[in-house]
Amino acid sequence: MPSPRHSQRPRFAILGSGRGSNAVALMQAFRDGSLAAELAVVISNVSGAPILQRAGEYGYPAVLIESANLPRAEHESRIRAALVQQNVDHILLAGYMRLLSADFIARWPGVILNIHPSLLPDFPGLAAVAAQWRAGVRVAGASVHFVDAGIDTGPVLLSGSIDVCGDEGEAGLAQRILTEVEHTIYPRAVRLLLERMARGGPLHTQASTRSSASATTDAPATAYRKDET
Ligand code: GRF
Repeated sequence: MPSPRHSQRPRFAILGSGRGSNAVALMQAFRDGSLAAELAVVISNVSGAPILQRAGEYGYPAVLIESANLPRAEHESRIRAALVQQNVDHILLAGYMRLLSADFIARWPGVILNIHPSLLPDFPGLAAVAAQWRAGVRVAGASVHFVDAGIDTGPVLLSGSIDVCGDEGEAGLAQRILTEVEHTIYPRAVRLLLERMARGGPLHTQASTRSSASATTDAPATAYRKDET
């Protein structure tokens, strides 16, 4: 039986598989009241993942739904049950290292967002920072995007960029994308989503980026540079 709703504010879940630094940035924003929404639960598919401990430290329910040795459909059905039980409306993927099936995505009635360490649609998929470093890009960044059935192909909600320093190395670039861009834009993206939901208009106007290499953001207001306040 789902528990009764305690508020009409949208309820979110964070799903992650690892260290949980984006989850921490999000939890801080939920906790300090800068988001007109509730964080209902943090779920990980990996036993011992630090994200679960971080959730506990912030006082949010932390649930392990292990995916190892479980068929995808069964694992997703357990995830769905936990989300429904917590009256979750929207899902934030934060380092969730398991693809959600097209069926799960199509049937989830709310929004699903993900954060990816590149300026999408460039450099989707794994090892995106390494690929950017190898390609010698001068500007790198991260994107928060709506999740569709492709790999990092859904419409971008908010992206952020930094200038690459020639001597920082791949690890240095990865660290700066994480701390200077991702941790800033993910809470901002959730705020932007909530504002758009409150206005009742479209959440995005952009088609999936899968076949469009030209559009990185759907509106000028959705690009963020690190030197903005
Ligand atoms: C981040 O780089 C995110 O962009 C990617 O996975 C990483 C997760 O890091 N999807 P963390 O667990 O949030 O620290």
